[in-house]
Amino acid sequence: MSFRDDFMWGGATAANQCEGGWLSGGKKDSVADHLTDGSKNRDRIFTYNIEPLVTLSHYEMPFHLSEAYRGWADRRVIDLYLRYCKAVFTEYKNDVKYWLPFNEINNGAFPFGAYMSLGIPLKDHQALFEKTNNTPQILSERYTALHHQFLASSLAIQIGRSVNPNFRFGCMIAGKVYYPYTCNPDDILLTQKMFQDYVYYFGDVLMRGEYGPFSERLWREKGISVKMENGDDEILRSGTADYYTFSYYTTTLISVDPEINKNAVVGLNLHGTPNPHLKTSAWGSIIDPKGLRYYMNEVYNRYKKPLMVLENGLGAEDTLTAEGQVHDKYRIDFLREHINAVKGAVEDGVDVRAYTLWGCIDLISAGTGEMKKRYGIIYVDKDNNGHGSLKRYKKDSFYWYQHLIKTNGREL
Ligand code: BG6
Repeated sequence: MSFRDDFMWGGATAANQCEGGWLSGGKKDSVADHLTDGSKNRDRIFTYNIEPLVTLSHYEMPFHLSEAYRGWADRRVIDLYLRYCKAVFTEYKNDVKYWLPFNEINNGAFPFGAYMSLGIPLKDHQALFEKTNNTPQILSERYTALHHQFLASSLAIQIGRSVNPNFRFGCMIAGKVYYPYTCNPDDILLTQKMFQDYVYYFGDVLMRGEYGPFSERLWREKGISVKMENGDDEILRSGTADYYTFSYYTTTLISVDPEINKNAVVGLNLHGTPNPHLKTSAWGSIIDPKGLRYYMNEVYNRYKKPLMVLENGLGAEDTLTAEGQVHDKYRIDFLREHINAVKGAVEDGVDVRAYTLWGCIDLISAGTGEMKKRYGIIYVDKDNNGHGSLKRYKKDSFYWYQHLIKTNGREL
């Protein structure tokens, strides 16, 4: 068993994390521009000999809509987004086949995504990774905004299919994986609840076209009231995704014991307490290749639609040698083990169509705003203070990945 002959290998980036030109060509500022400085070069979506997978919205809600509308909390934003989608679909209808309406839509359930993805003003959520301040009122607004994104995703898919019936759509969910910290049944039940609340809540709507049966329990427990309108159920049913596409970085340990939880860390791609069986990256993210195989089996058996791994990578500090080389064996090891896990999932019977590592070139971190935390297989000469020539250098991982692609994953 191995990768399909038409398997797609590649790399993923987000415009607001690497392209610059944040005010060029009539573009206005987005929520991301209010967190970090942009660099100043501009390219657009793709060049040639590439099968592009285009995310329509990746953590860059127009800032004006955040301020004036409270982002996706306002139902009128659905129509604004659809107008944008229609323009992009029409412009690229012969160039792009694969589309993703929203990046990591389930991160909207957390303060970081509530600002970056839903565009609800930051001051209402205190810090980006604040765990508290989740009052019923805040959560009701947030889950209503998520409901609007679900409707928008479905309607965008329907519009896309009318523009070009060959278009294919993915759902793009942050691959959150939860393990019970112990065999205490309370840990097991809480772990199951985490899967329901932060993975299946989203997957069920986007892949099956309806809220899962546990949703009422989630809303009741947190005092959430989601504003829905007549006809919304029908909209959700009419535009489900063709592929379950996701990012994967880490796994999280779940415990009901406050003593254990006291060591928990929270960040964009790091959560929970350290796992004694696994190593942690320099930025505190637990490295767990087997968790990827586990997750792929879980979601494939639930949704039975092809999967695409659209983000996966290691944020690490690299050293550029005087000869212009970067010896990043740690990154090669990370990628090898994760791709091996994808291969394992293929052997388990999972239908996987693509693997695109995060950040083919080094870019600014979404979670910490740093340049020093590098994911790329191509080094970009730029530091945290914005100094550097922007010159690119191929890292050792570049040549390793190039060979892997040539052998379609046979030689890892
Ligand atoms: C993903 C995001 O969750 O993780 C990317 O979609 C982000 O935008 C990537 O860059 C890596 O996270 P970070 O915080 O290290 O940049």
